[in-house]
Amino acid sequence: MASSETLDVIELLLTAEIYNDYKNELIVNNIPPKIRRTLWNAKTRDVPTPIKPSKSMIKKMFDIDNVEDALKVNGKPFAYVALDEYSGSAHITEGSLDSAAEWFKKQDGARDRIFENSVLAYYYDNVADENDVGVSYNDVASKTPPKEASREWIESIMDELSEGKDNGRKWLDLAYIKAPEEIRESMDELILTERQKNELQKIELTIKNKDHFKNIGLYDIGKVLFVGPPGTGKTSFARALSKNLSIPIIEVRLSMITDQYLGETSKNIDRVFDLAKKFDPCIMFIDEFDFIATSRTANNEHSAIKQAVNTLLKAIDNTSLVEDGVLLIAATNHTKKLDGAVWRRFDEIVDFERPTMDMRKDILDTILRKIEGDINTEAIAKTTEDYTGSDLRMVVREAVLSALLDNRYNLVQEDLEKAVKSFDRRSGLKMTAFIDE
Ligand SMILES: Nc1ncnc2c1ncn2[C@@H]1O[C@H](COP(=O)(O)OP(=O)(O)O)[C@@H](O)[C@H]1O
Ligand SMILES: [Mg+2]
Repeated sequence: MASSETLDVIELLLTAEIYNDYKNELIVNNIPPKIRRTLWNAKTRDVPTPIKPSKSMIKKMFDIDNVEDALKVNGKPFAYVALDEYSGSAHITEGSLDSAAEWFKKQDGARDRIFENSVLAYYYDNVADENDVGVSYNDVASKTPPKEASREWIESIMDELSEGKDNGRKWLDLAYIKAPEEIRESMDELILTERQKNELQKIELTIKNKDHFKNIGLYDIGKVLFVGPPGTGKTSFARALSKNLSIPIIEVRLSMITDQYLGETSKNIDRVFDLAKKFDPCIMFIDEFDFIATSRTANNEHSAIKQAVNTLLKAIDNTSLVEDGVLLIAATNHTKKLDGAVWRRFDEIVDFERPTMDMRKDILDTILRKIEGDINTEAIAKTTEDYTGSDLRMVVREAVLSALLDNRYNLVQEDLEKAVKSFDRRSGLKMTAFIDE
């Protein structure tokens, strides 16, 4: 049987061959991310064709020392591959694609690879004499993360910006840019209210149908305000959304752009919005949006702050999902401080409330999923009124630590009960401060 290294290399060579042969039917997003990464050209933001795999490329891609050895099956060089000693190029030999593919599909572990590689899936579904693998090209293609989900995509854009006059790298200090493939938060780990689920659906549909909105002339969409106390999942929701939609997220904290010399603030705001527009499509997540409210109501003399706020509002007005591909999400802890002028700029408001008892139980179940122990989460949920998701996370962390002190990896009910008590004691003051707001 072929080793997994051998299958790695043959999969690459088959992918290259099929992609080159069916260039008009396939697109760059069909290439699996692990292969796409190495072939990526930052300048053209594409994988150049024809794909010409080489020994050095194979070494880099799979961390293989000896490519010749990897290309041996049962001790003999694999029959359908040509490896040029001199140039180092490797490819499926002329006319052998069908035989090589026939061999490949019979190998242990090949099936899983075919179901994760939409170029291979295309071949077995549409080209091969019979699709006895039972793979659907459309299914696999729709599950493959697109190029916009990769770190390489972001780096390509940053490269281009840093060549420009305004020095792109400087912008990195103003925002965090994350690739969907780097995001750890996920939607199925977030416990959402029905309203939130509904809003999520609306946001996803809006993004996916932005051309439709353009056609029917509805431009004022794609600006969402998240409202709720700290620790209720606003940031996690925005990141999980970026992962779900496979588009990068640009996270901006208003304190990051305002802490500096005030005259620069307005410029920074414009820079960050320009940056987001370069990333079409993306999510721009503005955290700590309360800042804007505080400075509007406080009748302060700092005209620079007022000017910055006006710049921000204008920048929001001038950003459109339909035209710029930027989904704008702002998050705030306070509702009261925002005035009508600010509210009006958002077409969706999503409430993040402190979780109900049922939600607290579900959140605890989610957090405890990978932790050993038979815990009555309903009982804990009953004693944790007003706790946010983040509070519950802290409680579990505390419980895990106290179990470790007791030389245990598993949790018992008492660990959690104790953690709740100590959390109540520590945060008593803090909690009432929030409720009063
Ligand atoms: N509804 C929820 N379901 C599951 N986990 C939650 C929920 N709300 C908060 N959390 C957890 O609490 C932590 C902090 O949440 P975060 O998204 O940073 O909140 P916020 O941005 O509102 O302050 C995260 O680890 C998150 O997973
Ligand atoms: Mg947050």
